[in-house]
Amino acid sequence: MKLDTRAIRYLTNEDWRVLAAVEQGSKNHEVVPTPLITQIAGLRGGSGVHKCISSLAKVGLIAKVKNARYDGYRLTYGGLDYLALHTHRLRSTIFSLGNQIGVGKESDIYITASPTNRQQVLKLHRLGRISFRSVKANRDYLRNRSTGSWMYLSRLAAQKEFAVMKVLRREGFAVPEPIGWSRHTVVMEFIDSFPLRMVESVPEPGKLYAELMDMIVQLARRGLIHGDFNEFNILIQENTVPAAMDGGEEKVQLRPVLIDFPQAISTNHANAQMYFDRDVGCVKRYFERRFKYEADEDGPFFQDAMKGSVIEQRLDVEVEASGFSRKMAKDLERYVERAEDGVDEAEQADAAEEDEGDVEDEDAEEEGGEAVLPQDPQVDDPKLAEEIGGLSLGDDLAVKPLDRGRDFGLMPLEVPSEPDIAAEKVHSKKKASGWAI
Ligand SMILES: Nc1ncnc2c1ncn2[C@@H]1O[C@H](COP(=O)(O)OP(=O)(O)OP(=O)(O)O)[C@@H](O)[C@H]1O
Ligand SMILES: [Mg+2]
Repeated sequence: MKLDTRAIRYLTNEDWRVLAAVEQGSKNHEVVPTPLITQIAGLRGGSGVHKCISSLAKVGLIAKVKNARYDGYRLTYGGLDYLALHTHRLRSTIFSLGNQIGVGKESDIYITASPTNRQQVLKLHRLGRISFRSVKANRDYLRNRSTGSWMYLSRLAAQKEFAVMKVLRREGFAVPEPIGWSRHTVVMEFIDSFPLRMVESVPEPGKLYAELMDMIVQLARRGLIHGDFNEFNILIQENTVPAAMDGGEEKVQLRPVLIDFPQAISTNHANAQMYFDRDVGCVKRYFERRFKYEADEDGPFFQDAMKGSVIEQRLDVEVEASGFSRKMAKDLERYVERAEDGVDEAEQADAAEEDEGDVEDEDAEEEGGEAVLPQDPQVDDPKLAEEIGGLSLGDDLAVKPLDRGRDFGLMPLEVPSEPDIAAEKVHSKKKASGWAI
């Protein structure tokens, strides 16, 4: 799902109001009826709204849907992307947007810059994308859910990721600085690094291994388990220590930075020990395979890590208190559990049975609105399904090497306001980017 921002510079205030009205209406309508859009947008003169609607539909930010009972519109992922970018722009979190640097299983990663030209990363969560691939349990789970719930789940992922990163960063853990979040997106510090997966060899594997294990233990002590502690989610920064400071030769120090937190879980979780052991096992196996390094002793063990845990310092409790409620955590967790390839089939089947009974009820509660119309996502948006179906989820896609020193293709989101940009020029650009004018 490509983030095409060509049209963003040319949306009028009215267009934004109408787009926001469709979003607002989507909270309790799978298909938002046109009169409701007009009412929420609160614009004077009906024809203005219709013009905005047709412009927004033309550039694919909303899509017309013919329902059995009425015609209306729904927000597309593109429309949601625009609304989030607009918010980041208004909050001065993002000034310009650059190249895509990563395609995760369920996210797209872009380089952005702040108004002061600081390099940042924009992570757009796209939950539901893998449901078109091989994960059958998950596809079944989503079958009866609306597009709205994909958006809801993606927003939960962003909200949780931001909340977790915020507390971890404050407590001195090596994670990128979280800068802001809106809807399904998180903006964070850009780490100039390589994922561990791309690091051929390390001078002292034992040292790096110990640091990573210590990170897992320290996290558990503070009530958190990463849940996907693998070579893709550990970024390796290289810091050169000058000869003079070290007394000897110039040295390169490796600093691991942890990313990717939507699946993080509390140490209170019923399966906490299993997740902890799995994170430990991931690092162990990877170091054996890639660096031929094997630790002298077993562990670390969950029980030992928990001995040092003090309830007053529990960050999982704090994340929950920050507004990421237990219900939200449960909604997201249920989805993540199904999405995991690593979980064996028997476990998935158990979990599916356990949850069977309450899925429908939860749908009705979602976002505090009325029940959404059950719809097959593939029918709901065949074009999106086609795009998603074509995505390969192989290792190569998960990590793209960063070409250091390049300019990342950063482009301001605003139209430059120099007086020499004549209205005519803007008009023709607007037309070229697909506007019906
Ligand atoms: N703050 C950052 N600085 C630099 N690169 C980053 C940053 N965040 C993410 N990346 C790059 O983007 C890739 C994907 O990011 P992330 O792991 O957060 O997404 P994901 O969708 O959860 O991926 P997956 O589901 O495949 O684990 C990372 O492996 C890394 O190469
Ligand atoms: Mg990842």
